[in-house]
Amino acid sequence: MKAVLITGASAGIGEEFARQLATQGHNLVLAARRLDRLETLASELRQRHNLEVVCIASDLALAGASGKLVADMATHNVELTGLINNAGFGDRGDFSDLPLQRQLDMIQVNVTALVDLTWQLVPQLKAASDAFLINVASTAAFQAGPNMSIYYASKAFVLSFSEGLHEELKKEGVAVSALCPGATASEFAQEANMTNTLLFKAGTMTTEAVVSKALAGRHRAIVIPGLKNLLMVWLGKLSPRMITRRLAGLLQA
Ligand SMILES: NC(=O)c1ccc[n+]([C@@H]2O[C@H](COP(=O)([O-])OP(=O)(O)OC[C@H]3O[C@@H](n4cnc5c(N)ncnc54)[C@H](OP(=O)(O)O)[C@@H]3O)[C@@H](O)[C@H]2O)c1
Repeated sequence: MKAVLITGASAGIGEEFARQLATQGHNLVLAARRLDRLETLASELRQRHNLEVVCIASDLALAGASGKLVADMATHNVELTGLINNAGFGDRGDFSDLPLQRQLDMIQVNVTALVDLTWQLVPQLKAASDAFLINVASTAAFQAGPNMSIYYASKAFVLSFSEGLHEELKKEGVAVSALCPGATASEFAQEANMTNTLLFKAGTMTTEAVVSKALAGRHRAIVIPGLKNLLMVWLGKLSPRMITRRLAGLLQA
């Protein structure tokens, strides 16, 4: 079956990608650790939209998880037409205070698994017509972020990597886009210990708005949903790095 793979589809932005892509008639492969949540979402989408949805339990913090996910997809005869590398998490705190393993897991999920999955699945995307790849980065990608240094660095990698791939894969007919949301209402802030930060108190976008911008803009190299986020990024570009990194630090102190 032709289908789109969404990692981190059990909550937040990934779950909303599943809902909007189902509305557009795409079959789906949903991956995350919480299989029960994926199954509940899948049965709702199958009923509502009469399409095929495969759920795969996958912990992308584990080495080799991407290979296992690709192998599991093959047993379902999936022909990929789209890939959404969305799974990711952050954590707030000084680099030297946060547990090392948690930060290495963050690099594994946000960066290494994303690269691994992309490399393994790009051949399928090249073979499909009108294929797309959306990597979920963040507005955090545009500057350093004291108090969340690894998270910001991981998203800077995702942005730069995606821009490179955008140019490389254009000629192969694969649209590659880096989605760069700002604060968005999901489980992310709770997981990252950020609910009381200025960044989240200043207001969040809904996952619905973020994902509809992402899908509408999937042929663009970079999608920054929301006027406030766009202005922040552009103002950041006009400011010295010393200012933007300090401001980022203040917003999540
Ligand atoms: N919300 C924001 O403010 C915001 C802003 C900018 C960028 N982002 C990015 O958007 C993406 C989605 O975040 P969200 O806001 O939707 O957060 P969320 O509601 O916490 O969802 C995160 C998703 O990632 C999955 N995930 C986390 N660790 C995983 C692991 N080890 N293996 C497999 N899946 C894992 C979770 O599934 P399980 O727990 O079931 O595994 C969940 O489905 C992330 O890349 C995040 O960095 C979020």
